[in-house]
Amino acid sequence: MAQTPHPEADWWRQAVVYQIYPRSFADSDGDGIGNIAGVTAKVPYLKALGVDAVWLSPFYPSALADGGYDVDDYRDVDPKLGTLADFDEMSAKLHEAGIRLIVDIVPNHSSDRHVWFQEALAAAPGSPARDRYIFRNGLGPNGDQPPSDWVSHFGGSAWTRVPDGQWYLHLFAPEQPDFDWSNPEVRDDFRKTLRFWSDRGVDGFRVDVAHGLAKDLAEPLRSMPVIPELDIQVDGTNPLFDRDDVHTIFEEWREVFNEYSPPRAAVAEAWVPTTRRALYARPTELGQAFNFDLLREDWDAEGFRKSITENLAESAASGASSTWVLSNHDVIRHPSRYALPTGLGREGLDEWLLSDGLDPLPDHAAGLRRATASTLLLLALPGSMYLYQGEELGLREVPDIPRDQLADPIWLRTGHQLKGRDGCRVPLPWTVARDAAGGSSFGFGSGGAHLPQPDWFGQFSVEAEEVDPDSVLALYRTALRLRRELQTTETLEFETSVPTDVLSFRRPGGWLVITNFGTTPVPLPSGEVLVASGPLADGQLPGETTAWIRE
Ligand code: GLC
Repeated sequence: MAQTPHPEADWWRQAVVYQIYPRSFADSDGDGIGNIAGVTAKVPYLKALGVDAVWLSPFYPSALADGGYDVDDYRDVDPKLGTLADFDEMSAKLHEAGIRLIVDIVPNHSSDRHVWFQEALAAAPGSPARDRYIFRNGLGPNGDQPPSDWVSHFGGSAWTRVPDGQWYLHLFAPEQPDFDWSNPEVRDDFRKTLRFWSDRGVDGFRVDVAHGLAKDLAEPLRSMPVIPELDIQVDGTNPLFDRDDVHTIFEEWREVFNEYSPPRAAVAEAWVPTTRRALYARPTELGQAFNFDLLREDWDAEGFRKSITENLAESAASGASSTWVLSNHDVIRHPSRYALPTGLGREGLDEWLLSDGLDPLPDHAAGLRRATASTLLLLALPGSMYLYQGEELGLREVPDIPRDQLADPIWLRTGHQLKGRDGCRVPLPWTVARDAAGGSSFGFGSGGAHLPQPDWFGQFSVEAEEVDPDSVLALYRTALRLRRELQTTETLEFETSVPTDVLSFRRPGGWLVITNFGTTPVPLPSGEVLVASGPLADGQLPGETTAWIRE
């Protein structure tokens, strides 16, 4: 018998979701690492910001070999961050404030401290304990060559040898052994984890490396000596990523999600081409998948138009809703990306980081203008918007963290050829001045910050921006409040008779959105200006500005 859907079953379709990277959000106990109680203390801030949900990056017990994406125990809280009771308290406070909670789940790999991996190490080759992971004999007469040429995302071989001579696979750091998802025990255990958190009232899951779980492990292992770029990743030909059988895993997960009312939501992190992404987002699987296209796109009208059009079409075809992302814990913060010359690409951005942010010199004013114009544009689109902590302050990347304080495994594993992602993970500034007591953090916590905050952080603090009506924080608050009223249906109609540098569309209810990607002002359409990303004058929309207008 068909059941009536829960009235809030679709809450996620057009939600604004705020990503908290807990170690860098707020530290309530002065150990220099943000914690769960720190999040709880900031619930009023999140409510005032106006977000619909929080996505909490990993908070599980972890040695932090990869910022918490190396999980020791999927059903507990890291003692450095608090307890399960703290988690429940945070969850209750968020829910009281009308904010839902999505947790990160890391199914591709555990940490090497996970009890199963410890059992595997203690067990003999070929034993069931080893079969939960991917252990193989090496190549060459003594087996001292890795079983294949597969490479780790963080540099070097994806295989590490254990004392008895076997090798195990890790697509990321050696401290992150990959599970074998063809093993039913692994599949059962993750469903148990999904129920554990769903029973605790969690509303949804962000699924780490969703496209990597199913692997073609048929012998001989096929050659794949590079990490595939999105554009060259071809369906079915890569032994490690985006294999068709991965979808059966998420169909099983959907059955678990649908045991709850409303059903638990999910979003896939899947670095796959746009046309493949929608498969993960099917209603029979996760429901949504991150659209990372704009993380790789310059500030450019044509690129945005193409990306928006494709993504709306793809998600409509699969019954999902679109997602929009400008920043997260893995990429250079977008006000800094947009402050750099176009066409740098990933390598150019990596070089910029290696130059400590000095070459090329960023144009920070332009970067911020473009960043806020993009935000206002994306917030007006149908679908969900994922915000990354600190972007509501206009926070920039910190490209010059002293090298001896870098913590990202990428820095170590590439032999210091790539700096990695620490520059977007510096703890948030909450106060204008550094704490009188410790003298070392801008209100993050009394014990300083695990990655050092530069002197310029204070001007981007919550305290500074809360009293400034022209701040980025004020803009985000206004836009999120208006969006709640305006975002009703999921339809959109592009304006076609606009200059090449202008992107404009209409949403139902007389909501007109216009972005000027160029530098020359254009006439402002008639109507009431509801909000704009920068100052307007003389009936003109200045360059690099977005306005929402009620016609
Ligand atoms: C995802 C996470 C990233 C992590 C990796 C391995 O890409 O976003 O931070 O390093 O997975 O878990």
